[in-house]
Amino acid sequence: KRRELILAFESSCDETSVAVIEDGYKILSNIVATQINSHKRFGGVVPEVASRHHIEQITLCLEDALCEAGVDYKDLSAVAVTYGPGLVGALLVGVAAAKVVAFTHGLPLIPVNHMAGHIYAARFVEPIVFPALALLVSGGHTELVYMAETNSYEIIGETRDDAAGEAYDKVGRVLGINYPAGKEIDRLAHLGKDNFNFPRAMVDEDNFDFSFSGLKSSFINTVHHADQIGKKLDHKDLAASFQQSVVDVLAQKTVRALRKYPVKQLILAGGVAANKGLRERIENEIEQFDDTSLLMAPLQLCGDNAAMIGAAGYVAWKAGIKADMSLNAEPSLEF
Ligand code: KG4
Ligand code: ZN
Repeated sequence: KRRELILAFESSCDETSVAVIEDGYKILSNIVATQINSHKRFGGVVPEVASRHHIEQITLCLEDALCEAGVDYKDLSAVAVTYGPGLVGALLVGVAAAKVVAFTHGLPLIPVNHMAGHIYAARFVEPIVFPALALLVSGGHTELVYMAETNSYEIIGETRDDAAGEAYDKVGRVLGINYPAGKEIDRLAHLGKDNFNFPRAMVDEDNFDFSFSGLKSSFINTVHHADQIGKKLDHKDLAASFQQSVVDVLAQKTVRALRKYPVKQLILAGGVAANKGLRERIENEIEQFDDTSLLMAPLQLCGDNAAMIGAAGYVAWKAGIKADMSLNAEPSLEF
């Protein structure tokens, strides 16, 4: 049987990435060019800067991805690309590149939702078993997604304000931690204690929605108030308290969702899924569900990358999902 090779593009935010995936789950190459250093001094991603970097990087990433995989255009079966959600100027670069390759080489063009891509990062560990529930936590999104079957995504709960990763990045700023702050707060959290007892928003409400802006404000007010009275707060304890609040809310809402939607598999994915505290807590919580297994995206594939887009693109391609040359970036794409 001829191996099925997908060439995948990702450029929705601040990483330019191109990958070659075999049979939907083997990574032949996954080149990621990060722009984090260019955005750090602004404390977040600057859209115009992001677009320019993508333009500079995309063909270099493409050449590297094909070279590392040892494949030629004629070996490819399809081209997958993130077309949303994300920054419009950033997305356009990947979409244009994917269209050029698909058109020139007569290959099918597969449109992929970035968030579906995050879920499929878990496919590199083992196959996804349906029905499944995904806790998707990233810099732009925090949502619980029910998947009855392949290519079916239903948001059953989401954040009403900030995404979890966004809250990490914003509180990181008041602690003087560079963007993106999640990893460093996670490290500090493991060295401190939860003695600030920050709020846990909406945990008792009978829904699957989240809110992190109250926690963020409470954190920032605590730090500013201490500054005003000249008191020094322990950053390790602040980090531990913040993280405990985020993890408590994410875990409790996920448990609530699993009770209402019994599934065979719980998937943890997105940039914040790299969080050690969250991974440990979800591993513990899943024990109470005998019929549900836990599938976590591998640490190195939690952040944005094209391999995950290739894996999601593969199942979409198998289902006959295709785009034509009119495909456009959709910055506010929903499932
Ligand atoms: O999925 P992602 O790479 O980009 C988006 O699609 O948003 O997620 C990036 C987010 C950032 O907010 C970053 O601070 C957060 O993921 N993050 C973490 C950790 N590693 C990255 N948050 C908490 N703990 C971590 N270990
Ligand atoms: Zn992402």
